[in-house]
Amino acid sequence: MDPWQVTLDAFPRGGTPSERWHYLWNYAVLAPSGHNTQPWRFGVVGEKMALYADRQRSLAVVDPQDRALIISCGAALFNLRVALAAFGYGGTVTTFPDADQPDLLAWLEFGETCSPDERAQELCQAIVTRRTDRRPYQGSSPLTEGGSGAKTLTGEQLQALERVAQGEGVDLQWLDSPERRWLMVEWVGEGDRIQMANPQFRQELSHWIKPSTNKDHDGIPSYAQGIPPALDFVTPLVAQLIRWVDLGDSQAQKDQTLVANAPHLALLVTEADDPDAWLATGQALSAVLLEAELWGVRASFFNQPLEVQSLREQVTQQFCSSAFPQLLFRLGYPLGAPLPPTPRHSPPESGL
Ligand SMILES: Cc1cc2nc3c(=O)[nH]c(=O)nc-3n(C[C@H](O)[C@H](O)[C@H](O)COP(=O)(O)O)c2cc1C
Repeated sequence: MDPWQVTLDAFPRGGTPSERWHYLWNYAVLAPSGHNTQPWRFGVVGEKMALYADRQRSLAVVDPQDRALIISCGAALFNLRVALAAFGYGGTVTTFPDADQPDLLAWLEFGETCSPDERAQELCQAIVTRRTDRRPYQGSSPLTEGGSGAKTLTGEQLQALERVAQGEGVDLQWLDSPERRWLMVEWVGEGDRIQMANPQFRQELSHWIKPSTNKDHDGIPSYAQGIPPALDFVTPLVAQLIRWVDLGDSQAQKDQTLVANAPHLALLVTEADDPDAWLATGQALSAVLLEAELWGVRASFFNQPLEVQSLREQVTQQFCSSAFPQLLFRLGYPLGAPLPPTPRHSPPESGL
């Protein structure tokens, strides 16, 4: 089954634990992940399901510590928690249960049976409709004049997202003053130029840019990169161009325009910088994105300044004092037509 086809109605309520976990697994894999690597593994053992980090799918150049990898797994974990609540399970999650197995990120159990949580059911629908949207958004930014009638998030919505992140132990900061926004615009551009000047970075990135027709079920398809379907055939050429040519200046210009014009720019910040904090960041990310999705609000990422160590130190110094910046993304109401979903590996059939 294509995980994007998962529905609340088809849950095998009377099935074996294995059948039920395999169904819930579909919600987990719809989570966002760096370059759509889907760096997670699951194992069903009796009544329980394990979530593992799949380090074979790591991004050695851009993410040498596997920080984004664990964050991605955290997003999948949050989706599982939502799905458990939506189907009427209390859900018990034990994170990092075995110090000798650092790849074992969590054990999940169904827990007590309760009535299905309506809000969790809405969030489950949001898991299926959520997309990373890299196109421009409606509305003005702290650096631009507003277009009339353009929609931005209200103060109440911004506070609601802060609370949702805090619920996962993560701080959400809005970079909404012109000074802070300018600094970030500068650092995003610098990050692009530093990363693209590195042939290994370009090689890694180009590997994950794939035509829409690709059957790998992972990576970033051309349409998610803004290449129109009619030009899908040029995607391998674009990937080769990225691999062999330093396009740092043009990438910087494109990203800096998006960041300067973004109605809202968010930074997720944690008190520690370890796998626990990264797993929490991923859960906070998914919580924020799904809440935003309920309003029709989309996000896209600009993690360059947090991936280049020297820039991350500057971001930390300027915005986080003794805490650690983990993810940078913009939020807003999209301008274009709905986007198709990006591909996913299907969970195996149930009944193992
Ligand atoms: C930890 C993490 C880091 C990401 N970093 C970037 C990024 O720097 N640039 C970007 O365009 N997308 C980034 N993404 C978005 C992924 O590329 C996207 O989630 C993936 O391609 C799947 O697409 P979807 O979110 O539309 O399902 C990131 C996602 C996660 C979870």
